[in-house]
Order: sequence, then C-alpha cells, then structure tokens
Amino acid sequence: MSSRVDSSPWRLEWSDALSVGIPEIDVEHQRFIGLVNELNEAIIGRLDLAVIKNRMQSILEDAAAHFAHEEELFREWGYPEASEHAMKHAQITLALHGIMTRFERGGMEYEWIEAGLKVKEALIEHLLAEDMKYRDYAQRTGLGRVNPA
Ligand SMILES: [Fe+2]
Ligand SMILES: [Fe+2]
Repeated sequence: MSSRVDSSPWRLEWSDALSVGIPEIDVEHQRFIGLVNELNEAIIGRLDLAVIKNRMQSILEDAAAHFAHEEELFREWGYPEASEHAMKHAQITLALHGIMTRFERGGMEYEWIEAGLKVKEALIEHLLAEDMKYRDYAQRTGLGRVNPA
C-alpha cells in the first residue's frame, strides 16, 4: 500500500530522469514543478481560494513563457516535430485556462483537488512524452547545450 507520507500523492520531485540535458530548460522545468507543488499544497492545506488562484496564475504565466522558450529553441534547431509539439503546448494552455476558470467559479473542494491533480498530470505527461522527444533529438544532432554524460 502507499506510504503515509502526507504529501506523496501530490508532490512532484525532480529527478535526473526528468532532465532534457539542456540546463536552461531543466531549470525552468524545476521551477514549474515547484509551482505545481505549491498549488497542490495550497489546495490540500485548504488555503484561501485567492491564494490558490494566485498560484494557478503563476503556473499560467510560467507555462506561457516556458512554452515560448521551447518553441524558440525548436526554430533555432529546425526541429522537425516543432509544430506537433507546439500543438500540445496549445492544448495544455487551454486545459490550464479551463482549470483556472473552474477555480474562478469557486465550486466544491473536491473539484479543486481534482483540478490540482490534473495540472500535475498534464505537466508530467508532457515532460515525459513530448519534451523527451526533443531531448533525444538534441542529443542525436548535438544541438542544444547538452550536458556531458
Ligand atoms: Fe517543457
Ligand atoms: Fe514542451
């Protein structure tokens, strides 16, 4: 059964397995993970809705800047999957805005918990499924500032 560490289902922890080998992007992903953890802490800790919305707003802003940064790198690299990847960014952005709207409507506590988990899942799935594709591409082609092995 799961451990009783109180934060475990909600927290994301950074690990080397999440590294895309590009330090400036890793830093952004780490910050993003921190923001998602803070959002979920606010939800689980039953902080004011204003705090939750604030933290969600930070995630929206951070995501927009981060996605734009990745897409800029794709242009520099001539990354062949750039448009598919940008489409995924657009889908996540839409989903995140939908979640923000749910917070703005207030709603029930269980809905916030579900929404917080959705934010976490969207982030981690995107990192593992999509961002890892450009990690492989950058390593294969020598593009990006890849960490020494
Ligand atoms: Fe990313
Ligand atoms: Fe991405």
